[in-house]
Amino acid sequence: MQKWMMFGGFMAACLLGIFLLTFGLPEKTAPEQEEAFVIPEQPSDIGSAEAIYKNSCLGCHGTDMQGNMGPALNQVGSHMTKEEVYKRILNGGNGMPAFKEKLTKEEIANLSSWFAQMK
Ligand code: HEC
Repeated sequence: MQKWMMFGGFMAACLLGIFLLTFGLPEKTAPEQEEAFVIPEQPSDIGSAEAIYKNSCLGCHGTDMQGNMGPALNQVGSHMTKEEVYKRILNGGNGMPAFKEKLTKEEIANLSSWFAQMK
């Protein structure tokens, strides 16, 4: 009888342990990920987007975005999403400089939604 009691107690402890292991431990936290950055639908500040364009982009993309050594941007929204424009400005490539060190995320996001509307 006593053995049964001990066995029962042992099993109960095991079950409790398994239960705790499966459900009781805090959720494993996912490795730190760069927080997803949402680009707004509408440019929040067209004036500032224009000012950044004049300062940083005009030389290569033309006074009216008609293109110069870089491609025209006046209809860029018809073949690029705002996310693609964002990545392009952030990382550059193929002759386009990266702006991740020069502009803030917010500035780039603002520019991206502005360009995405140019169709
Ligand atoms: C030194 C010149 C230069 C500057 C400055 C520059 N770009 Fe570019 N940009 C380019 C070139 C060259 C390309 C084409 C790259 C390619 O063919 O993939 C390009 C491509 C792009 C594209 C993709 C266009 C497409 O149709 O594929 C976008 C969007 C863009 N640039 C935005 C900007 C913005 C916004 C700025 C300012 C913050 C800027 N660029 C500044 C040279 C430049």
